[in-house]
Amino acid sequence: MILLLGASGYIGEAFALELQRRKKNFITLSRKQVDYSRFDLLLEYLRANKPLFVVNAAGYTGKPNVDACELDKAGTLAGNTLLPQTIAHACAAAGVPWGHVSSGCIYSGAKISELGAVRVEKDMIQPRLHALAEQRSPAILGFTENDMPNFSFRDGPCSFYSGTKALGEEAMTGIGQSYIWRLRIPFDQFDSKRNYLSKVQRYPKVYENVNSVSHRADFVKACLDTWELRAPFGIYNVTNPGYVTTRHVVQLIEKYLKPARKFEFWQNDAEFYHLAAKTPRSNCVMDVSKLQSVGVKIRGVEEALEDSLKNWQPE
Ligand SMILES: NC(=O)c1ccc[n+]([C@@H]2O[C@H](COP(=O)([O-])OP(=O)(O)OC[C@H]3O[C@@H](n4cnc5c(N)ncnc54)[C@H](OP(=O)(O)O)[C@@H]3O)[C@@H](O)[C@H]2O)c1
Repeated sequence: MILLLGASGYIGEAFALELQRRKKNFITLSRKQVDYSRFDLLLEYLRANKPLFVVNAAGYTGKPNVDACELDKAGTLAGNTLLPQTIAHACAAAGVPWGHVSSGCIYSGAKISELGAVRVEKDMIQPRLHALAEQRSPAILGFTENDMPNFSFRDGPCSFYSGTKALGEEAMTGIGQSYIWRLRIPFDQFDSKRNYLSKVQRYPKVYENVNSVSHRADFVKACLDTWELRAPFGIYNVTNPGYVTTRHVVQLIEKYLKPARKFEFWQNDAEFYHLAAKTPRSNCVMDVSKLQSVGVKIRGVEEALEDSLKNWQPE
């Protein structure tokens, strides 16, 4: 049996659907039933129910966005740092392997390969770098699992949310057997206030940047595949291979959904952070070759975006 934590959430519900589709024997557990953030209660539950594997899709995401985490720092720290550490200790004590949904938002920018050297650039909307992104230049490389987070409390500035996600990874590392699956900007064909493609359509003005993104169903399939393939435990970036500029996402929305509105963009970071956002946002390119190297198949970002928009289901 597989135990799924956080099934009531946006990502957890996608795990539940995929486990059903695979006809897996699984149980969901909500904090309303058992407060799994408490070590003693979780360990007791694991010992009594003996799951073969635990999926942790629980965590604290600010709503409607990460600015909300700045107003509830204790809750953010509890959900994103203390919870994975507690689950790690309980799973280790019960001898159960597990997987944790982390985030790519612990990075900023991309790596640039030029003149025989690779350097990190945190700000991809600098005109020359942005032009490289629009050309899909092979000079742009994603962060790998070996790269230290550069949008974290250790390498700031960062949002409080991102800081706690990076710290959560640190807090569980070296305890028992686990996967860390890094999700980034989830989207799919189901219009919802949690879906990136819906958010872009609803923003009064759009923020331009360069990002890797994760199709929600592709993400949960890839995570479960790491376990089914018995891939080595450790960290995996789980985004659709490649990256997109927000302008390109808008072009795809215009092409497939033909919305009545015209899209306007914030002129620059100064205007965006003055009027629309409080805490710094992570924008980054991820490398998924480690995931692919263990045999997990995941389609490219362009195909996943086009497929979502072709099959768009308004809310
Ligand atoms: N959505 C995104 O854009 C995104 C992007 C990257 C990474 N992630 C990560 O993916 C995970 C799931 O995100 P989500 O979008 O599915 O979140 P969500 O919709 O808010 O659901 C999270 C679930 O976590 C459980 N939970 C346990 N402890 C919690 C706490 N202290 N505060 C709030 N909820 C808590 C709740 O379930 P019960 O109370 O029923 O147990 C809740 O339904 C999180 O770790 C998040 O950081 C999300």
